Amino acid sequence: SVPSGGVAVLERPAIEVPTAVKEITVLYGSQTGNGQGIAEQAAAKLKEQSFDVTIQSMNDFKPNNLKKIENLLLVVSTHGEGDPPDTALPFFEFLHGKRAPKLDHLHYSVLALGDSSYEFFCKTGADFDQKLSDLGAVQLAPRVDCDLDYDEPAAQWLAAVEVSLEIQTGGQAAAASVEVETTSSTQYSRTNPFNAEVLENINLNGRGSNKETRHVEISLEGSGLTYEPGDSVGIFPTNNSDLIDEIIKVGDWNAEETVEINSQGERRALRIALLNHLEVTVLTRPLLEKLSNYSKSEELKRLLNKENTDELRAYVDGRDLLDALTDFGPVEASEQQLVGILRKLPARLYSIASSLEANPEEVHLTIGVVRYEAHGRDRQGVCSIQCAENLEPGDTLPIYIHKNYNFRLPANSGTPIIMIGPGTGIAPFRSFIEERSETGAEGKSWLFFGDQHYVTDFYYQTEWQNYVKDGALTRLDVAFSRDTDEKVYVQHRMKQASQELYQWIEEGAVIYVCGDEQNMAKDVHATLLEILQQEGGKSLEEAEAFITQLVQEKRYQRDVY
Ligand code: 2AM
Repeated sequence: SVPSGGVAVLERPAIEVPTAVKEITVLYGSQTGNGQGIAEQAAAKLKEQSFDVTIQSMNDFKPNNLKKIENLLLVVSTHGEGDPPDTALPFFEFLHGKRAPKLDHLHYSVLALGDSSYEFFCKTGADFDQKLSDLGAVQLAPRVDCDLDYDEPAAQWLAAVEVSLEIQTGGQAAAASVEVETTSSTQYSRTNPFNAEVLENINLNGRGSNKETRHVEISLEGSGLTYEPGDSVGIFPTNNSDLIDEIIKVGDWNAEETVEINSQGERRALRIALLNHLEVTVLTRPLLEKLSNYSKSEELKRLLNKENTDELRAYVDGRDLLDALTDFGPVEASEQQLVGILRKLPARLYSIASSLEANPEEVHLTIGVVRYEAHGRDRQGVCSIQCAENLEPGDTLPIYIHKNYNFRLPANSGTPIIMIGPGTGIAPFRSFIEERSETGAEGKSWLFFGDQHYVTDFYYQTEWQNYVKDGALTRLDVAFSRDTDEKVYVQHRMKQASQELYQWIEEGAVIYVCGDEQNMAKDVHATLLEILQQEGGKSLEEAEAFITQLVQEKRYQRDVY
């Protein structure tokens, strides 16, 4: 500080301040929005340190700008069989194509998001990393591959990037901090969930259905939480207590022994930790590798051999921790060592099925209950089974709102929308139409819905029929696959209406797809390509280019899982 009336005295000689502000570009390729969230936090931190930060979705980034930038951070997730998110695809293909420039001048680092229960864990991030390096760019910091629980590795990655940038800027950047701030104390979020009261919980399927689908209404009262159509709710579920008791018994652990559950040093009794904080229903290679440190099983060692990848894949499919403990025991791990083997229990995301505009302080979800038999035991989806069997009005659930910027109603309420959502894929479209109805939107809307049987599986049937009557829904096409000898799916209905569909697209309609990724979304995509060829006279390549353009213009949006 400057003494009053005096002169400022520098205690140390001034160090040279770099004349140019350091520029850095942060690009995210994010399907569910996690990547975007991390990228925004990273950008905010770098801005605080006086970097000139540009942050963009890969979708909005002009690849020619690569020549002009010096520092690049990529945050990107991986989907399906190692695929980039839709919004990352054009940039991914540009870098892997003939027009990709030399990037000798570029410094970069990649944060890869993924799920280690998939074989192609973080593949898209690894591919970007490899490609940028092949094009001559130099790593600012090594790539970090994050599993579902990405907070800590993401913070460490950013810290490493900051350290590297600090060197570049001659030590002017503020000291790196390992904490990425994710919450402020007054706001509910993933790291500070809200205990929300359940208002209603009913089965949408009729008697005799093969399915059970819960309609759950939740109160947001007192939370300050808001959402938009397209957003999701994250629920932190509780594991099945019988399963936890069996795990404890098989491993001969002490249920009451306290264990540390996170790096902040929070402690819980083992049983509580397993019930509420740790994942026990999914097997991954990293889990089995850690387990093998405490087991003498030769069979486990053999399975983990890289040559036996196919066998390992077959083993983990449909099996859980209890199977592994039984098959490869005895496991000589302490209670704390067991915790060290397991991933954190991740929140389950469900697309919101209501409009806040139409239901103040409420959020509705459409939850398909997962039950199946595998390897001689009945298995269940952790969260959906809790909703089906152990959740009554008055109970509470720890929840947060997950923003999904990649699934949004058009800004212009007059823009036509085409919604394709069989099964629980219907959820966000109930939100869309409630919102459009409530706000008196003028735009046309067309819904394709399908499920097994008309009588038992037509979710929200009367609501749709009323919307059609009052004009909030312009057109409804349904496909009940098991009411006829031949299967009828939503894409068959699309094909039958291909001329009108093409006309809607020509009029500027936005196409939304929600639901099963593996089969439905792929087939619907193929059908769209067919319709573009058939009705638009396009070649396959032209149809593909057209879809790429639709994605870029946010006129083809998918929320698939
Ligand atoms: P299925 O169960 O009779 O095969 C919601 O689950 C609906 O999606 C069901 O009617 C289901 O039919 C159907 N479905 C299954 N596979 C599909 C696919 N590849 N494309 C579109 N719909 C599909």
